[in-house]
Amino acid sequence: MEQNSKIMKLNENSLINLIQSSKISICVIGIGRIGLPTALSFANSGLSTIGVDINPKLVEMINSKIFPLKDEPGYDVIFDKVINQKFHASTKIHDVVPNSDVIVLSLPTPMDDNNIPDYSALLSVGKQLGELLTKDSLVIIESTVEPGFIENDLINIIENSGKKLVAGKDFGIGVCPETANPGQIMNDFEKLPRLVGAIDDHTVDVIMKIYKHVFTADLIPMPNCKTANAVKLTTNVFRDINIAFVNELAILFEKVGIDIMTVLEAAKSKYNFQIHYAGPGVGGPCLPVNSYQMINLAKNMGFDTLKSVKTARMINESMPEHVINLLRDAFDEAAKPLENSNVLVLGISYKPDVKDIQITPAETIIEKLKFLKTNVLIYDPYFKSTNVFNLQTESNLIEALQKSDALIIVTAHKEFHNLDPIFLKSKMKTAIVVDSKCIINQQTAKNSGLVYRGLGRGKI
Ligand SMILES: NC(=O)c1ccc[n+]([C@@H]2O[C@H](COP(=O)([O-])OP(=O)(O)OC[C@H]3O[C@@H](n4cnc5c(N)ncnc54)[C@H](O)[C@@H]3O)[C@@H](O)[C@H]2O)c1
Repeated sequence: MEQNSKIMKLNENSLINLIQSSKISICVIGIGRIGLPTALSFANSGLSTIGVDINPKLVEMINSKIFPLKDEPGYDVIFDKVINQKFHASTKIHDVVPNSDVIVLSLPTPMDDNNIPDYSALLSVGKQLGELLTKDSLVIIESTVEPGFIENDLINIIENSGKKLVAGKDFGIGVCPETANPGQIMNDFEKLPRLVGAIDDHTVDVIMKIYKHVFTADLIPMPNCKTANAVKLTTNVFRDINIAFVNELAILFEKVGIDIMTVLEAAKSKYNFQIHYAGPGVGGPCLPVNSYQMINLAKNMGFDTLKSVKTARMINESMPEHVINLLRDAFDEAAKPLENSNVLVLGISYKPDVKDIQITPAETIIEKLKFLKTNVLIYDPYFKSTNVFNLQTESNLIEALQKSDALIIVTAHKEFHNLDPIFLKSKMKTAIVVDSKCIINQQTAKNSGLVYRGLGRGKI
């Protein structure tokens, strides 16, 4: 490892030579869902990479050659190739940062109980960087933050801690907001264009040269950090708003007797319609948080309206209650009491085919079911025989069905796509099905004798 390469001071040729001869050292701070694949990509390109994390169990697991992201295809192979060769993990930020040319931050940026963005991990690491950075190194923030946070908060805390280094003079700093989708990170790292913004054009150029060496995706230079972060938020808020629109239509169409899926599939034949699907709510570490980051930005700028985003949040957060209303309606049709019934929740991940329950609407649905004094059962292929939301999850789908009076499809995992209504009818105690993802054929459900409610589907 080349120490003190002073990466920000190299001329173009020296920088390219250093990258191509794998003589720059990388440190990725925060090696979770996004940071670990990022670190593995750096290592796989030949650059010596250390992943730093405050979670000692994660670090120990990684250094014991156990790959923690089983639902992230492709990275298991890269992990086996680079672990303990070009890559290892550490909890010791004090040892790693001073020996790194490039410090990539992939730290969590969640929100608190009042939906206010929580940047404490970035600010705490920022303070440490002020003490640990070597002169002329480069800091790249991949975490999602609201526009202006880097310029107004992070740079400030780095500059005012420890060595009193000055951004743009003593160290480079820029952003490359991460836009990958869990479950398909490798594909997205290869194909999804990435935005690069920084404190000055030279820093943009250095980041682009390094990232070009590591990632095949196109890189788009941005005029500054805040514009790059604004693009990242805009794409996700756009989705949140469009999902809210479709969710409202879904509720309307249920009353009119129109199938939302038929409408959406036909609507997408129009060249400028972008399809979004209705569902039980919008979860995950990105969409809900990003909308609140945009709302927070507006509030801090004294522009406390942003009505479309606030309304979208309100609609999407009301969807679990609508799912419960569909269940109530189905129990009424079956002339069964909801209280003391066994309700099976199928899928608790916030999106299909990933093991992730951050801000999942399933949690709200389960809370509401408990409040209604039903006995909640959970089956999710990614969470078998474990304790989630204070409940022991089921290990076998058929056994779970046999115990159930009703089921609610919350997550459209692949395993649920071929659920046959006749099979459900034959296994369940009472065959009540609420399908919040419209993955069951409604006519077959009716013909099989299920009491079926589809979100966005009128009764037939
Ligand atoms: N997961 C996604 O779908 C996704 C997609 C795009 C962007 N992002 C953004 O990427 C960033 C990281 O998200 P993630 O999903 O990888 O989070 P994560 O929670 O999976 O990983 C974050 C890691 O940081 C570690 N950490 C926390 N505080 C630390 C500290 N002070 N020092 C060192 N390590 C620390 C945690 O232990 C954890 O391993 C967030 O800003 C998120 O918004 C996430």
